[in-house]
Amino acid sequence: MFIEELKLIHYRNYENECIMPQKGINIIVGENAQGKTNLIEAMFFLSRGYSHRASNVAELAQWDHDDFFINARVVSEGVKHTLSAKNLQGKRQFLLDGKVKKRDKINGIFNTILFEPDDLKIVKEGPDKRRRFLNQEISGFRPEYHYILRDYEKILNQRNSLLKNIHYQPSLITTLEVWDEQLVQTGVRLMNHRIRYLHRLNREANNLHKILSLGNETLSLSYLNNIIDSMEELSEIKMIFKKRLESSREEEISRGSTIYGPHVDDMLIQINGKDARRYGSQGQQRSAAISLKLSQIEIYYDNTGEYPVVLLDDIFSELDEHRRNSILSLLNKTQAFITCTEDILNDQCIEKNIIEIVQGKAQVINNN
Ligand SMILES: Nc1ncnc2c1ncn2[C@@H]1O[C@H](COP(=O)(O)OP(=O)(O)OP(=O)(O)O)[C@@H](O)[C@H]1O
Ligand SMILES: [Mg+2]
Repeated sequence: MFIEELKLIHYRNYENECIMPQKGINIIVGENAQGKTNLIEAMFFLSRGYSHRASNVAELAQWDHDDFFINARVVSEGVKHTLSAKNLQGKRQFLLDGKVKKRDKINGIFNTILFEPDDLKIVKEGPDKRRRFLNQEISGFRPEYHYILRDYEKILNQRNSLLKNIHYQPSLITTLEVWDEQLVQTGVRLMNHRIRYLHRLNREANNLHKILSLGNETLSLSYLNNIIDSMEELSEIKMIFKKRLESSREEEISRGSTIYGPHVDDMLIQINGKDARRYGSQGQQRSAAISLKLSQIEIYYDNTGEYPVVLLDDIFSELDEHRRNSILSLLNKTQAFITCTEDILNDQCIEKNIIEIVQGKAQVINNN
């Protein structure tokens, strides 16, 4: 899939702009604060229905405007579509070929994978960053995952408030079983998605990491959870989950929160058998993050039969030449947008389209 034309009206610092990218590599150049990330964000928003950096949609509308409009001509499975996202009086609306659609119906038509400097935190920082990564990537091609996650979070919040209330009103304990049941049912669905995805990700990320490390390193991923000790117990996961809840009743009530469940899941990332978070060098952590992120290209393809559009924001200039070339070779089947402050692919003979951004205005400066 690829974008042929992208129009932004009153989006961030874009007043009214139209960009015609090419099918392969598009370099978005510009000084700081000109609108490069805003352009990337607009494509991400169109594909996912949310921004990767603003939780409030109102922030996306140009200052002094309430509404914005993003419109793209996208080719998906050889068919042209028009896709639009609007913010009208605080309400998001998505249109496919002129008809209002639920956001998840757009998923198969236009998918993006975004890689930005913050993604290095997946390897370096705490478990919440890795859960966020899993959640974001799985919902990218499995829209139902997003709903299961939302349900799980609702159930978890309700159960936590109940645990807090039981402390003051012990008779409420009789209602806890209903919430246990729901937590287990929804939690196990979530865990099954994660286990399946990690199995596939492990294979793909290991392949990529081999390429980036010139064959010297092995990357491996394992699923960390506090319900089952090994995959052999997977068939009994519901029963084990319930038992864990039953045996931790007193502690949960005194803490006022749920101890067991996928809300505390993590993913162990190892390089040559050692925890990359603790022992990895900066370069190893960077390669591991790139491998995890760019694995999505093939995983999306396996799941949807189409290559997603790849968005690389501000990440290229910090890479050495070997890594840049390895990444470029992975992008040869996809449309890609690479932002940087200068054209860092100057010395390379690759076909690229250069779009320069100056204060929210785009100009194609070289089309070879
Ligand atoms: N809602 C908005 N309305 C108008 N302008 C905005 C809005 N939100 C952000 N901006 C402006 O957009 C400008 C460009 O932001 P953007 O993050 O896209 O820059 P960039 O080109 O990626 O810069 P850098 O190279 O520093 O990452 C900023 O100067 C910011 O003030
Ligand atoms: Mg930026």
